[in-house]
Amino acid sequence: MIFYFSGTGNSRHVAEYISKKTGEELVSIAECNNNKIYTFKLKKGERIGFVFPVYYWGMPSVVEDFVKYLRIETYGKHYTYSVLTCGATTGGADVALSKLLKKKNIHLNASFALKMVDNYTLVFDVNDKGKNREINAQAEEQLVNVAKNIEDRVSGNYNKIRGLWPAYPVTHALYNATRFTFPLKVSKNDCISCGKCARECPTKTIIMECGKPVWNNARCTLCLSCVHNCPVNAISYGPTSKKNGQYTYEEI
Ligand SMILES: Cc1cc2nc3c(=O)[nH]c(=O)nc-3n(C[C@H](O)[C@H](O)[C@H](O)COP(=O)(O)O)c2cc1C
Ligand code: SF4
Ligand code: SF4
Repeated sequence: MIFYFSGTGNSRHVAEYISKKTGEELVSIAECNNNKIYTFKLKKGERIGFVFPVYYWGMPSVVEDFVKYLRIETYGKHYTYSVLTCGATTGGADVALSKLLKKKNIHLNASFALKMVDNYTLVFDVNDKGKNREINAQAEEQLVNVAKNIEDRVSGNYNKIRGLWPAYPVTHALYNATRFTFPLKVSKNDCISCGKCARECPTKTIIMECGKPVWNNARCTLCLSCVHNCPVNAISYGPTSKKNGQYTYEEI
């Protein structure tokens, strides 16, 4: 079983690739949270995977919430792994996951990480599609090995891009202190009322009112799916995201 979360498609692509190689089922963490599904039964010998993006050197809040409630009824030392996608360094995202799993007596056997396009367009520019393709092509080469290791149930820490990971509690606290929706704004003149932002928001934070998106909660998981998936770039996050461009894995 592969539990995955993705805002702009990087982690979904990775999870789908591993699913094809291992023949194991994909489970969307966002859908489970929205439908309050937290109890799972595993087949004999089935692997348990966690694939998700790094946010502020830690786990996205939706992934953290899911793992806190997760119950695996049939757990018997199943091979368990994580694959993080990030723009540069993962910090302690997999360390945090490992700690949460430990509380449930689940041992994280292996951790992997892949550098992909950084979708945090408050800071990073994603306009250069050629550069984006290059970054993801390098990740794809590494993904082949990652999937092979997972198929072979190899254990160990294969995440070599943790950076100064012991600082992750500080950056993670910063994430939780800043993941407000008020900086997400729609340009009502540009918006064509397609509803995609609301349909694809993994936390169901966006509702449509009079044909325009409205953020229905003060906080969200800050995946930036609404910013990147809008067909007319009508949603901004802070003063820089519009000029820094839009990105989805599928698009490139
Ligand atoms: C709120 C936010 C925080 C992020 N923080 C980090 C980070 O700490 N380190 C990093 O390397 N990338 C960071 N990123 C980049 C994403 O981890 C990266 O682009 C990831 O592959 C996106 O995955 P997705 O397409 O599955 O959503 C951040 C992105 C967002 C939206
Ligand atoms: S409101 Fe936007 S940034 Fe927040 S969870 Fe929904 S899609 Fe992601
Ligand atoms: S995705 Fe963009 S165009 Fe479509 S409703 Fe949302 S803001 Fe408007």
